[in-house]
Amino acid sequence: MGSALPIGLAWPEDDVIAPLFGVDKSFHVYVHIPFCEVRCGYCDFNTYTAKEIGSVSQQDFHNAIISEIERSSKVLSGSGYPIRPISTLFFGGGTPSLFSADQLASIVSALKDQFDFEKNAEITLEANPESTTAQYLEELSQVGINRLSMGVQSFDADVLKTLERVHRPELVAPLVSAAKNVGLATSIDLIYGAPGESIESWRHTLEAAVELGTGHISAYSLIVEPGTKLARQIKSGEVPETDDDLDAEKHQLADNILSEAGLAWYEVSNWGEPSRHNQAYWRSFDWWGYGPGAHSHISGNRFWNLKHPLTYQQAVATKTPVAGVEHIDARTRLEEMLMLELRTKEGVSTSVLEALQVSPHALEGFFAQEFLVIKNQRVSVTATGRLFVDRIVLDLLTN
Ligand SMILES: C[S@@+](CC[C@H](N)C(=O)[O-])C[C@H]1O[C@@H](n2cnc3c(N)ncnc32)[C@H](O)[C@@H]1O
Ligand code: SF4
Repeated sequence: MGSALPIGLAWPEDDVIAPLFGVDKSFHVYVHIPFCEVRCGYCDFNTYTAKEIGSVSQQDFHNAIISEIERSSKVLSGSGYPIRPISTLFFGGGTPSLFSADQLASIVSALKDQFDFEKNAEITLEANPESTTAQYLEELSQVGINRLSMGVQSFDADVLKTLERVHRPELVAPLVSAAKNVGLATSIDLIYGAPGESIESWRHTLEAAVELGTGHISAYSLIVEPGTKLARQIKSGEVPETDDDLDAEKHQLADNILSEAGLAWYEVSNWGEPSRHNQAYWRSFDWWGYGPGAHSHISGNRFWNLKHPLTYQQAVATKTPVAGVEHIDARTRLEEMLMLELRTKEGVSTSVLEALQVSPHALEGFFAQEFLVIKNQRVSVTATGRLFVDRIVLDLLTN
């Protein structure tokens, strides 16, 4: 399920991925758990319901992840990298909370055996409210998970219904309290712009969200992904189209309410105590992504795994599960720095813009429109510029 993966170079036969940009970065891990109870109508992530996944059992899949972990440390040491302790680990999905604490514990333990963890490593689990209980949260804390990221999306039952989420809004607050009680840092994901969602409904969601007192909130504008049930429903007129102007208003409302509640904005869709794991992606540090369709980046080598859990699992049994490799050249690296860093509060260094030979005229235009500002040799987006950041990047790269 989900969109196709890019085609790349073949994985090297000698299993050596030579460093292209040094080996001085911290090391991060992503583990993809591709199981969901039901598929939400808007989602095109690489995830499968029991009916879709057929013969792949959670246990076989779990064993495949452990094999890939063992394989990866051999690849890294055989390629001349020092074995670095893990700075951040993120269990994402899919629905990682469908895995038992024991299954997660054995993945954490395999990673510990191969790499070890930094003393203050951030270990996050993405969870859905309907598959999480206070007891489970306690078990998670005992296996070393110290951050919970819960997919809440909305506190309006009608919006949840449109999104085809299966949980009730009332489930969320007791779970967040339970997570705090066992010492987990807490974050929730929200989505704005669902068809039919009013500004009042979104305000209610934001107010209920800040009531929870989580340390972090992500608020994503709903993307209507081609091929999803939602895209078909919009095309057939069964549900109304999304509205870009209303979305911009909702982003601004989120910024006002979240900032006032003490959650400072730091990336286009994120407020509060920054997720160290996401920062590693934005800063192009090194990470290994385990599981079907997971992407990795190791010192300028980007590679991604076979997408389907069955083909992934079959490959891991005998060889690499990598489907394709790309070597990042200097120009691509600079373009990615612009794309990722301009989304953040710190913005992008002027040296990157100079190296990319960005048109001073285009840049001046964005300063004049108050979409961009420059301070201490860094260019960053204003509150209005945030709404158009993708278009600004495209414009800077093509003018
Ligand atoms: C893929 S989900 C995985 C975690 C968990 N299963 C959940 O649903 O919360 C991660 C986050 O991606 C966001 N997401 C997924 N599809 C999206 C879309 N089409 N537009 C915007 N955000 C989306 C949701 O906010 C969700 O919390
Ligand atoms: S639960 Fe999360 S990953 Fe699963 S289908 Fe819904 S949004 Fe996608």
